[in-house]
Amino acid sequence: MGTLTKSSAPHVPPMSLRVGKATAKTAKAAPAWSLRVARTLGGENAVDLLIRQHRQIRLGFLKAALPGPWRSRNFHQLMRLLAVHEAAEEAHVHPVARRALRQGRELAARRRHEEKAAKELLIALWRTGPDGRGYLRRLNEARRMITQHAAREEREEFKALRQAVSVPRLRMLGAEVKLTQAYAPTRPHRWVNNEATNKLAAPVLGPVDRALDAVRDRTAP
Ligand SMILES: [Fe+2]
Ligand SMILES: [Fe+2]
Repeated sequence: MGTLTKSSAPHVPPMSLRVGKATAKTAKAAPAWSLRVARTLGGENAVDLLIRQHRQIRLGFLKAALPGPWRSRNFHQLMRLLAVHEAAEEAHVHPVARRALRQGRELAARRRHEEKAAKELLIALWRTGPDGRGYLRRLNEARRMITQHAAREEREEFKALRQAVSVPRLRMLGAEVKLTQAYAPTRPHRWVNNEATNKLAAPVLGPVDRALDAVRDRTAP
């Protein structure tokens, strides 16, 4: 995947977010249409959006640990947020970091490695469920691993993205994150854990997961 240049720009697919190697310089050339799309979807910078979701995830872990009739609802809300959040990072944010940052390859590889490990814990947690034996222990294991992973993302990857990628490009990336999260799977799937599988699986698994969620919500006490 090459760097965007004046001569190659007309051949780039319109929804592409490729930042290329030139990073900030190239990113400033974000076309007018992309800014309009970003504005339509709220225009939120991808880094701000993901950091806000990290806060929601930390709060979600606390709520999912509370006893009482709302535990199941809180648990499923947390699992859904985690699934769509990681799907968008794996499909769009780490690939941009890989291409745009000087040490992007290593950074993205480390984050993906952590996400794979976290997914294993989430699959075990999902199977246990909010009423299962060992639920709180598994929830706490996942909370520890995921909050550490989120802190590393913010410290190493997001901070560097803010410096290397222009605000218009980060807004465009925010729009793509939102679009992906609107149809991504809502529960952890072991083999859906990188850019390609996220993009391929989302249109199939996303609707299936959402249909199952609707059935569960309808039959919930
Ligand atoms: Fe992540
Ligand atoms: Fe994250």
